[in-house]
Amino acid sequence: MEDRFAPLSAPVVDWRSRRETDIVVIGAGIAGLTFALRLAERFRIVIVTKGVLGESNTRYAQGGLAAAVGSDDHPDLHVADTIAAGAGLCDEDAVRTLVAGGPAAVRWLLGRGARFDLSQDRLALGREAAHSRNRVLHAGGDATGAEIERALVAQLRARPGVTILERTVAIELVTGNAGACAGVVVQADSGSDGERDRFLISAPVTVLANGGAGQLWAVTSNPEGATGDGIAMALRAGVAVADLEFTQFHPTVLSGSGYEPFLISEAVRGEGAYLRSRAGDRFMLDDHPLAELAPRDVVARAIQRQIARDGAVAVSLDLRHLDAELVRRRFPTITRHLAQNGLDLTADLVPVAPAAHFFMGGVIADTSGATSMPGLLALGEVSCTGVHGANRLASNSLLEGLVFGLRAAERINESVPDTDRQPPLTASVASSDKPMPASHAGEVERTRQGMREIMSADVAVVRSADSLRNALAQLASLEDTILPDAATKEAVELRNLLLLAREVTRSALTREESRGAHFREDAPARLPALDGRHQIVRLEGGEARRSFGDLASGCNSGGSHKPPGSARADRIEG
Ligand code: SIN
Repeated sequence: MEDRFAPLSAPVVDWRSRRETDIVVIGAGIAGLTFALRLAERFRIVIVTKGVLGESNTRYAQGGLAAAVGSDDHPDLHVADTIAAGAGLCDEDAVRTLVAGGPAAVRWLLGRGARFDLSQDRLALGREAAHSRNRVLHAGGDATGAEIERALVAQLRARPGVTILERTVAIELVTGNAGACAGVVVQADSGSDGERDRFLISAPVTVLANGGAGQLWAVTSNPEGATGDGIAMALRAGVAVADLEFTQFHPTVLSGSGYEPFLISEAVRGEGAYLRSRAGDRFMLDDHPLAELAPRDVVARAIQRQIARDGAVAVSLDLRHLDAELVRRRFPTITRHLAQNGLDLTADLVPVAPAAHFFMGGVIADTSGATSMPGLLALGEVSCTGVHGANRLASNSLLEGLVFGLRAAERINESVPDTDRQPPLTASVASSDKPMPASHAGEVERTRQGMREIMSADVAVVRSADSLRNALAQLASLEDTILPDAATKEAVELRNLLLLAREVTRSALTREESRGAHFREDAPARLPALDGRHQIVRLEGGEARRSFGDLASGCNSGGSHKPPGSARADRIEG
């Protein structure tokens, strides 16, 4: 049978169109920018981003960046909270590395000009769900990601060794000698007439830092670009990925008719907001000792149940009992956004429901970014390092991008002597594609929406074998829409989304238990036999090979995971 997801190759790519650099970074969130900035003095770096620099998932992070820097805090407490939230699937060594690196990484970021909120001249620390201490640094109240992006972008723009390719989509990883990554094929939108340049960026180090895949679902807190491109490219290149069944649904995203999805930070509940049913009851009190501050997966499922009980589309977030002035000062972005939608955060009940938010699975990487493919690193949400387990602790993702971005840069600094640097950039020969006919554009958009509806109906907060099988059948019927040469950004994204939707659903079907963010109503118990056992997936000749084991079996060395070969991995599907 034809493999519709097979990597694109010549003649689709004109291999004469080639540029060379030392490092190519795909993605422009906290992980990729931190990595690039740390190495910018020494190497020629190309950053590829689908949008414009500064526009990424990071930019929309409200709550903040978790770090054990408070006087009542200790790294061991942060480790314990992270592991408890991760529901038996965290890699403890990786978590310890993450948490231990937090304070120094925050100092580095402050040194790059990031301005976090202060309280009495010290870093102000907020609380989010499942944290036993106040340890969430924030900026501009609820604009933390935007401030971090601002600071990093400002620094990068001043570095002459950094080339930024905006409105450029990465299409395919390129495999070179001995199976090492040799770079990436990209396509740049080069004008208003739909002209596109497609070319190869060849580099000894390629970095996937292009985020998660919230766009798999109809309702998400993620921006439009979160289409899982990095994970899909890695899959097609035969790189090991893991834990695709674990997507975190954020409990409180603005919801209901007339409203676009908009994140209402967990920090709002951290400041004391209540969740109320249609009848006005605080239903979380019956569900968990931590009530509104229970782990995210618990709150998301409780809201979903309450919505069904109420026959409603949302539950209510209630801040009416809190100091209005303080609320407005602490959450200016949310206050402003709600006001634009006719809602007063301090005086109205805000309708909220769960929405796809964070992809715990991804390309298996150690704590310095190494993947199963030499020359390919994965950083941030695109990666699966084991620090999030089955359910990420709030605000640990900015920390992960920052700490592991710096660690990956250190490893490159230590391991690549100056003499190994590549020759200067060669001239590029650009190739050009014809614009895609409008009828195709409409079909691509319809298919994308159809896929998102399927995922939201059947692969959501609660799933079952029946719903997952149903999703797989429906997804298969959409695959005919994949265009063989994926000529536009939208078609490239659709191809990635459909591949990932299939593998997410298959992974959810294969894990016959409930754990963290993966809840199967037909298998509601957590199976102790699967503690610490990640579901590892590799595509070989179009077929997915799945096994359960530790992450070391899918990563190429050196960092916190044990070396390949030491892993326990049982193949379960040929
Ligand atoms: C939030 O502000 O609730 C989101 C923060 C996060 O997902 O870590």
